[in-house]
Amino acid sequence: MPYLNKTDLKMAALIKAEEKRQNETLMMIPSENHTSQAVREVVGSLLQDKYCEGYPFKRYYQGQENYDKIEDLCRERVKQCFRVPYCNVQALSGAPANLAVYFALLKPGDKIMGLRMDQGGHITHGLKVNVSGTFFNSVFYHVDREGFIDYDAMEEIALKEKPKMIIAGITSYPLALDFKRFSAIAEKCGALLMADMSHVAGLILAGVYPNPVPYCHIITATTHKTLRGPRGALIMVSDKGLRADPQMGERIDKAVFPGLQGGPHENNIAGIAVALKEAQKPAFKRYGRQIVKNAAYLAQCLKDGGLKLCAGGTNTHLMVIDLQEFKVSGNLIAEALEQGGIVANRNAVPYDPNPPFYPSGIRLGAPAVTSRGMKEKEMKLIAQLIAEIIRDIVSIKDKSGLTLEDEKKKATRDKIIAKSAVVKKSKQKVRQLCARFPLPNSY
Ligand SMILES: Cc1ncc(COP(=O)(O)O)c(C=O)c1O
Repeated sequence: MPYLNKTDLKMAALIKAEEKRQNETLMMIPSENHTSQAVREVVGSLLQDKYCEGYPFKRYYQGQENYDKIEDLCRERVKQCFRVPYCNVQALSGAPANLAVYFALLKPGDKIMGLRMDQGGHITHGLKVNVSGTFFNSVFYHVDREGFIDYDAMEEIALKEKPKMIIAGITSYPLALDFKRFSAIAEKCGALLMADMSHVAGLILAGVYPNPVPYCHIITATTHKTLRGPRGALIMVSDKGLRADPQMGERIDKAVFPGLQGGPHENNIAGIAVALKEAQKPAFKRYGRQIVKNAAYLAQCLKDGGLKLCAGGTNTHLMVIDLQEFKVSGNLIAEALEQGGIVANRNAVPYDPNPPFYPSGIRLGAPAVTSRGMKEKEMKLIAQLIAEIIRDIVSIKDKSGLTLEDEKKKATRDKIIAKSAVVKKSKQKVRQLCARFPLPNSY
């Protein structure tokens, strides 16, 4: 950063510190990944300087000759990659993309149906505190006691509630969705079907996750998770969507701009195009296959280490450890794992007895560590470290006689973690492991 080093030492130091953190820890939050240097070059380029309100060849400002080509290239790559007839690449991120779809195709007060957020859905799928649950009337489908989506119950609820739109999408549900079943239910109750494949877009491109395109009218996706691009989002309409409403694409374009946004972030759109080119290489298919293999093996090793996983494991990129038997909060364990070099997040488990801010689960995923080149052997080591940390922290906590109420205090959690020699040892082991798998520059 030759210029930043001269102009803003404070910021330069913070970025260097972040580089060190990423280098020396395992990024295991399943919605995160490591982009290539090429993607980062494009996002940080002078493309960021321009206003491009409107769409390619229909803009409101002069000076667009390159931006029209850039955005068009991105749209063409999306259409090629996902085999869809229409897409919009301007939504600034996943939440605005979903909102744009609702704004385009629903009226305020219309009913939407998504997966309960505390069981694996996303806030934008109708949570009451989100705009999707405030301007729209939301109902939910759920998982059963074992953690599997209850499709029969979903059908019953859908036939009774008659939602205008059903959302098939997950943020912490570890198993692949049955889009065929979703589509049959949506057809029976006359609903539009939207897949929010934010988490799994890269897996779909790699052919290791069911493709929602033949079954859904609309497909949204973030570009920065398994797709391994910069932050942004795609909104796609399938042939099925255009058959249901030939104007669906134009409606979505209008909802994004001028409905919700002003100028698009063309530097990110260009970065998405570059990531899609990377994703079209055969190596990306290998990457997707390895994510799923790594996640499955990590899950197996965690279970071998005596841990319980929601829905019994995973056939995707993510899993949720169920900590209920240990009577410990996900907060304490997530913080201990972080001190041990493993960065994951606390998460609710289905039918969690704990409050949402102190849930009983840990969500983990393999996309970023797989980008670093790690394979099954490394997953085994990571699973051992996780299991050892959980056991040690639980034992320290139990010996101190602390309750969940005590655990809610950050200082108490810090004290427990500071006592753990296992956490300290893990940090060293993770550092050694990370040194063998440096952050990638290219794919
Ligand atoms: C399924 C799903 N949809 C939408 C989003 C929102 O994306 P963003 O955070 O980019 O707004 C997420 C983010 O985690 C997600 O998992």
